[in-house]
Amino acid sequence: MIKDVMYTYPNGTIALIDINLNLYGGEFIGIMGKNGAGKTTLIRTLNGLIRPTQGDIYIDDKNINTTTIATLSKKVGIIFQNASHQLFANTVEDEIKFSLKSFNLTKEESQIRTNKTLQQFNLEKYRERSPLNLSGGESKKLAIASIICRDPDILIFDEPTLGQDAREIESFLRLIEKEREHGKTIIIITHNIEFAFEFIPRTILMADGKIIADGPTEKVLNCEELIEKASLVLPQSRQLSLALYSMGFQDTDTLFSKADVTKYLMQFLKNSSERAQKR
Ligand SMILES: Nc1ncnc2c1ncn2[C@@H]1O[C@H](COP(=O)(O)OP(=O)(O)O)[C@@H](O)[C@H]1O
Ligand SMILES: [Mg+2]
Repeated sequence: MIKDVMYTYPNGTIALIDINLNLYGGEFIGIMGKNGAGKTTLIRTLNGLIRPTQGDIYIDDKNINTTTIATLSKKVGIIFQNASHQLFANTVEDEIKFSLKSFNLTKEESQIRTNKTLQQFNLEKYRERSPLNLSGGESKKLAIASIICRDPDILIFDEPTLGQDAREIESFLRLIEKEREHGKTIIIITHNIEFAFEFIPRTILMADGKIIADGPTEKVLNCEELIEKASLVLPQSRQLSLALYSMGFQDTDTLFSKADVTKYLMQFLKNSSERAQKR
């Protein structure tokens, strides 16, 4: 729970204003809004990288204001946009082992968990390789693996679909699905409106350091006024229904989802072919 949180950077930039937010275990949440809205700053407060200038954050009903980053990062895992730049160990295997260091595992336990992680992410064959010699996709995978091996309850991704092709997005979705099956809370910062609209049930919109909307994605992302405030564009299905409406197609202004629009168009085609046959 985030209560009345404000944050001002040391240089005076006010990045978070009056943030109040309830996150529930197992939720899948999107955070959207234009660059500079405060999205990254907000998630950094959740694992103690940034301490609020005012207000409090509770995780599992415990105020985290004095909890160390080391402890918090076992609960909250953040995969930053350029996470692969943060890889630094000499080998892929060591990268995972280093990430497990603060758990005080025995050598055997650490090895078992490392093996399991490498297997899970299909990185076993690169075990001895330097992270510097991995492809873009592989190093991204290693960066994610080095967070997920710590098994945090809350997983946060900062713009994970940026620059990813359709296949990479699909494999990312599979990963998310698996983590959700294990009851994880997933938070994704994204500019990808179609991705959010299709897959993420709850959306938080930010603008100028404030939360301007928080609710079911279908509601939030179909609201023209909010979309404009957040400098986003409406989902394609809503754009299409509004375009149809302005062309004179009746009642299309009440269509919101892809399914709504498809159903309308199928019915329309059926009706017109029936009319044609009657003539
Ligand atoms: N390290 C920093 N020092 C000073 N200002 C910062 C720093 N990081 C971000 N900001 C400023 O804080 C505001 C919010 O930034 P950020 O949280 O990165 O937004 P977003 O992730 O939504 O693009 C912006 O005005 C940004 O310029
Ligand atoms: Mg950001």
